[in-house]
Amino acid sequence: MPDALPQAALRDRLRAILGPRGLLTEPADLAPHLTDWRALYQGAAFALARPATTAEVAEVVRLCAETGTPVTVQGGNTSMVGGAVPDESGRHLILSLGRMNRLRDLDLADMTMTAEAGMVLKAAQEAAEAAGALFPLSLGAEGTATIGGVLSTNAGGNTTVRYGNARELMLGLEAVLPDGSVWNGLRRLRKDNTGYALRHLLVGAEGTLGVITAATLRLFPRARDTALGFCAVADEAAALALFRRFRDRDESAVRAFEYMSGTGVDFCARHIEGIAIPFAAPAAHYVLVDLASPRPDAGLRDLAEAVLAEAMEAGEVLDAVIAESDAQAKKLWRIREEHPEAQKREGASVKNDVSVPVSKVPEMIRRCSAALVALIPGSRPVPFGHIGDGNIHMNLQQPEGMDPAAFLARSHDIMDCVNAVVRELDGSFSAEHGIGRLKTDMMAEWRGGAELAAMQAIKRALDPHGILNPGKVLP
Ligand code: MLT
Ligand code: ZN
Repeated sequence: MPDALPQAALRDRLRAILGPRGLLTEPADLAPHLTDWRALYQGAAFALARPATTAEVAEVVRLCAETGTPVTVQGGNTSMVGGAVPDESGRHLILSLGRMNRLRDLDLADMTMTAEAGMVLKAAQEAAEAAGALFPLSLGAEGTATIGGVLSTNAGGNTTVRYGNARELMLGLEAVLPDGSVWNGLRRLRKDNTGYALRHLLVGAEGTLGVITAATLRLFPRARDTALGFCAVADEAAALALFRRFRDRDESAVRAFEYMSGTGVDFCARHIEGIAIPFAAPAAHYVLVDLASPRPDAGLRDLAEAVLAEAMEAGEVLDAVIAESDAQAKKLWRIREEHPEAQKREGASVKNDVSVPVSKVPEMIRRCSAALVALIPGSRPVPFGHIGDGNIHMNLQQPEGMDPAAFLARSHDIMDCVNAVVRELDGSFSAEHGIGRLKTDMMAEWRGGAELAAMQAIKRALDPHGILNPGKVLP
């Protein structure tokens, strides 16, 4: 067993490793790191370490391993499931990678870039763009979320349908393992069958198996032709039928395909400045289709017009606009992107980040919506998201006038209600937000038996004293 040190002595040892700028202990400096953006949790910590190099991360983790000090690893702290906040014990050290934000390398022959874990996702996108390439991972929190965070949670987002999720965009990793050893796996190989794929184990492990300090990421050719359509559709099945029309015509052109319910779009129009529904009358279901191609002569606008005309003929699409400019495209994207913020302003809501086989999305939305309204009369289902991946945010908004705390006290009933339907449809209770603190109790039920036992054995083998992100992922 490790030798525990009094916290004052630990702080001194950490200050000796990190210098005065690298260790924060004042309550005001710690405060923003102790809660998540949705304020679901209020944790405590005795200090915040801000290492500037991988060697410093390694020294900090080694000290924590020797002293049995629990470590909460934090990127941009944008987790939807309390994945980056410490527990309430006050025993945790928060390890923030924010100062490790350099681009180490970008290679247009290999189409890769190597970024440190603290680099903000948007900065990574911009670095690729400045070099004339594309790093395609894109999600609402991209202005704050970091490379280490999106890899640790295997983030998805809006472009998964075309480019895959974070795991598929990663070729190599550098990480500090729970004993403080440094693993340099920053290989940029397309083919590398050399034993267990440690990199894939760390991606999606939510910082429980190691601290990702840098990653080699895949780049793609940038788009030279784009087209964006925003459509009112007849129902959920019509949304899916439209996706299939585009996919069958030119799968490689579909960069994003997103579903929104009328309720969510109304919230955006009501709460977010500059957002208006682009049709004469509001609809109950909408779809955003974003097409992109590296070929300048791809003719995507013609493709969009042709497919939408066919779908109108078939009664699937009721009305549609195609963006006339980049500015208009951005404006239409905002209707989708502002859903989380609009839901927040409308009052309390419970998120259900679920996935089902793509073909079952319409049934899932219909059955979950009916079950939720039966569970809490007056509540308002707000399904939206990545229909092309089968990943819908089957969120529920509180009834108007209900006490938000009373509504949130039903969170687990609400999640159980959605999960019961999702399970019958062979889906997953967490598609892209991960497990964090919020969903550990679901792991035994959904992943129990051989799968969970293997995960626990891996955790014990790599982190025998359970110092990295205890209380996250595993029950
Ligand atoms: C999104 O896609 O906007 C988020 O993952 C969903 C959410 O806020 O529930
Ligand atoms: Zn999402």
